[in-house]
Amino acid sequence: MAPQNILVMPPSAAIFLVVTVRPGGEDGVVDLLADVAGLARSVARRSPEDGLSCVTGVGAQAWDRLYDTPRPLGLHPFHPVAGALHSAPATPGDLLFHVRAQRFDLCFELARQLVLRLSGLGDVVDEVHGFRYFDERDLLGFVDGTENPAGDEATSAVTVGDEDPAYAGGSYVVVQKYLHDLDRWEALTTEEQELAIGRHKLSDIELTDDVKPSNSHVALTTITEADGTERKIIRDNMVFGRPGSGEFGTYFIGYTADPGVIETMLRNMFVGDPPGNHDRILDFSTAVTGGLFFVPPADLLDG
Ligand code: HEM
Repeated sequence: MAPQNILVMPPSAAIFLVVTVRPGGEDGVVDLLADVAGLARSVARRSPEDGLSCVTGVGAQAWDRLYDTPRPLGLHPFHPVAGALHSAPATPGDLLFHVRAQRFDLCFELARQLVLRLSGLGDVVDEVHGFRYFDERDLLGFVDGTENPAGDEATSAVTVGDEDPAYAGGSYVVVQKYLHDLDRWEALTTEEQELAIGRHKLSDIELTDDVKPSNSHVALTTITEADGTERKIIRDNMVFGRPGSGEFGTYFIGYTADPGVIETMLRNMFVGDPPGNHDRILDFSTAVTGGLFFVPPADLLDG
């Protein structure tokens, strides 16, 4: 079955909508989910070259309420992670809409249409307007997304296959909203920041193994199987913030065929590998939301 539009050109703008479904809203929401692709097509027609797309995800509890088919094998409520110092909370969310385009107005219009259709059926519990920052950097100043796989490797990293035949062509997505303490981060030297991330800041080149610390972000999110193969995910993080309120953030979004891969990364980051050796970026970044969603194949969503 045809997947949804997960693998797209890096967008300039994105809107992330996390929605809860009201009791009694289930049937209307199933109808809406079948219409999302049509709504996106109508808005996208206004400027086809700007690549408007929308990926729809469904959370575990919502799946049981909306559909009478069994849950996809990997779908469960987001597992919160508690390390000794930092935690990744699970927060409410039945649906995720990941709207992307090269123009913010297209994202805004599609989000508006989705919210109109949700009226009386569901509530937006988190809404983030993300934008592309210089050179695809995050607000910590580092290029974000470099190690994303491409081509066939990207497709197989995110697409459910024979391991769950009823949902082949689907995918899973994890989202977390992070807030940064930029004052403290910017008090570090560039060299200290590079040791926290595991890459050089200006050139974006990875530090060599002899200098890359085991608590750097790159070291803790590189997952290697016993046979030496790396487990990759597709990330499309976006920057958001409100300077006047001191809010500076990264909206993390990771797509995977197997949620276990992202769960291992989160355990490494928050609990540490070995335990206690947590990700240095968490000393400057706080996770305030967390959710796991299944991304049904497009045909399945269309009913
Ligand atoms: C790599 C930033 C959260 C998984 C990176 C890189 C940066 C970055 C700058 C290096 C360049 C690149 O390959 O993209 C951030 C920020 C985060 C965040 C600012 C939030 C505060 C996460 C989370 C996960 C994750 C929550 C997964 C659970 C990865 C992976 C890589 C990576 C898999 C590539 C590692 C490699 O193969 O070299 N991130 N990230 N990141 N990040 Fe994150």
